[in-house]
Amino acid sequence: MKNLIFSGIQPTGALHLGNYLGAIKQWVDLQNEHESIFCIVDYHAMTVAYDAKKLPERISELALDLLACGIDPEKAILFVQSQVPEHTELGWIFNTITPIAILSRMTQYKDKSEQNKQNINAGLFTYPVLQAADVLLYKANLVPVGEDQVQHVELMRVIARKFNKAFGELFPEPKPLLTEQARVMSLSDPTKKMSKSLGEKHYIALSDSPDVIKRKVRSAVTDTHAGSKSPGVENLFAILEALGGEDLVKELKSQHKKGSLQYADLKDVAANTIISHLKPIRERRTELEKEREHVGEILIQGAKRAQKIAQQTMSEVREKIGVR
Ligand code: AMP
Ligand code: TRP
Repeated sequence: MKNLIFSGIQPTGALHLGNYLGAIKQWVDLQNEHESIFCIVDYHAMTVAYDAKKLPERISELALDLLACGIDPEKAILFVQSQVPEHTELGWIFNTITPIAILSRMTQYKDKSEQNKQNINAGLFTYPVLQAADVLLYKANLVPVGEDQVQHVELMRVIARKFNKAFGELFPEPKPLLTEQARVMSLSDPTKKMSKSLGEKHYIALSDSPDVIKRKVRSAVTDTHAGSKSPGVENLFAILEALGGEDLVKELKSQHKKGSLQYADLKDVAANTIISHLKPIRERRTELEKEREHVGEILIQGAKRAQKIAQQTMSEVREKIGVR
């Protein structure tokens, strides 16, 4: 069977190095091997408090970053979820076959509702059902995601099975695609995952200038745990490795073992490696910023291509469930 890849990312603004090394770099590789669909999931982003005025900007910043990273509209479909209303239509139908009991076991729901006690809305609860619709609408069979989303992909399989059993065979059972992707930690608190919500000094944005990158890496925490392995040093090694510097890391690790590695030198190497890797991305981004209309057009064309597939699936679904 030919593989069809589908993945989604929430428009929470510009991307950071963790997003790139943990997810987007893999998408860029996958699009060369498989038919791929990548979706900016704005309806998912509405399940927690968000600023409606800023959403359009967040979507276009993310689209710029994705294209700058190398998502190629000639190879993959890139589009915005809300531009293809079939997602919510299928989401509703799936709601009617999804047991509440399964949804209440979703770890992400439990975490997010714990963090947002004032806003535990039904959308947050049925979020994974919409996610299942995202993927099954295209009958995609491989879903590149991080560990934290595996439970959601398992739910997609349950929903596909339930639908097929109740109404007749239609959907494949998608599988998560977990490759060994880097987990990038915060520079200034390397026990936490790199994330924008922690604040400026914790992450490197793909759009950060070389000077900013140097400054942030230089002030990275390296020696919090005297004596034991320092998570900050491990993080810099992991970043270097993910950027393809295996030989360099071997050499630096052996120096580290001997006690001859200066952290300032490690930081310089790390900063320079990050800068040279992000350079072409940053340059492409600058170019794309000048052609925002073109970026908007790419998203519209992507939505058109996506919708063509989505409409075909929906006509099969409607036939099966008895609505015409
Ligand atoms: P988020 O916006 O946090 O949902 O992240 C979008 C994508 O980037 C997801 O696939 C995450 O798994 C990945 N990601 C986010 N932060 C990191 C990180 N610090 N290290 C590796 N991957 C990450
Ligand atoms: N829930 C995913 C996340 O938070 C984003 C997402 C939405 C997604 N729909 C998807 C991922 C479909 C893969 C496939 O990262």
